[in-house]
Amino acid sequence: MSTLHINAQPGDFAETVLLPGDPLRARYIAERFLHRSRLVTDVRNMLGYTGYFRDRQVSVMGSGMGIPSCVLYATELLRNFSVKHLIRVGSCGAVSDKVELGDVLLAMGACTDSSINRQRFGGHDFAAIADYQLLQSAVQAAQTRGVPVKVGNIFSTDLFYGEGSDILELMEKMGVLGVEMEAAGLYGVAHRFGGKALCMATVSDHLRSGQALSPKQRQTGLDNMIEVGLQTALL
Ligand code: ADE
Repeated sequence: MSTLHINAQPGDFAETVLLPGDPLRARYIAERFLHRSRLVTDVRNMLGYTGYFRDRQVSVMGSGMGIPSCVLYATELLRNFSVKHLIRVGSCGAVSDKVELGDVLLAMGACTDSSINRQRFGGHDFAAIADYQLLQSAVQAAQTRGVPVKVGNIFSTDLFYGEGSDILELMEKMGVLGVEMEAAGLYGVAHRFGGKALCMATVSDHLRSGQALSPKQRQTGLDNMIEVGLQTALL
């Protein structure tokens, strides 16, 4: 049955859903990487598709930007559509010098300035961690495809336009690799509803130096990460 934000029917989604932030990127992934794909939801133009990668049924749906949007869709997918695995395929800004533009970060854990997991967890700090099996599969898939990945901690922020560099310095000292806007919420909701989640993010910009990928490099980085994400769904 449809939910408030997803007008699909039971069985329309595969067990594994890739989650780009941008719904048009969901369409791009469905058209370019899946075969026999069909649109399964389009409420508020947050497009979701189900198709096949190799012989495995896989879905892809936009999550929107930021934790509240991502968590809202993830909740409905896990709770109402029997989805088991959520793989975010996004972009991030790099904090650490050890990270290069175009690298794919695999978020083993996600720090955050959002209170969402505290709200879920009685005011305590929840360790927002990836599913180990998905993480291991993603590392293996990246190695097989020769895609450079770095595994570690990222920071999911509510504030895209931040207030200065102090927090970046602190993040670097604490070993945070990059900043994005969804992973911590995704990991919390996956644990809450018994799902498995992983966030992978292509480094699109360097927050300390201001360097950024060109649109063409961005597309190549994105395609590499999508292949890793889809391969992860097979393992
Ligand atoms: N995604 C890509 N770059 C980002 C940034 N600078 N902050 C948050 N999310 C991002």
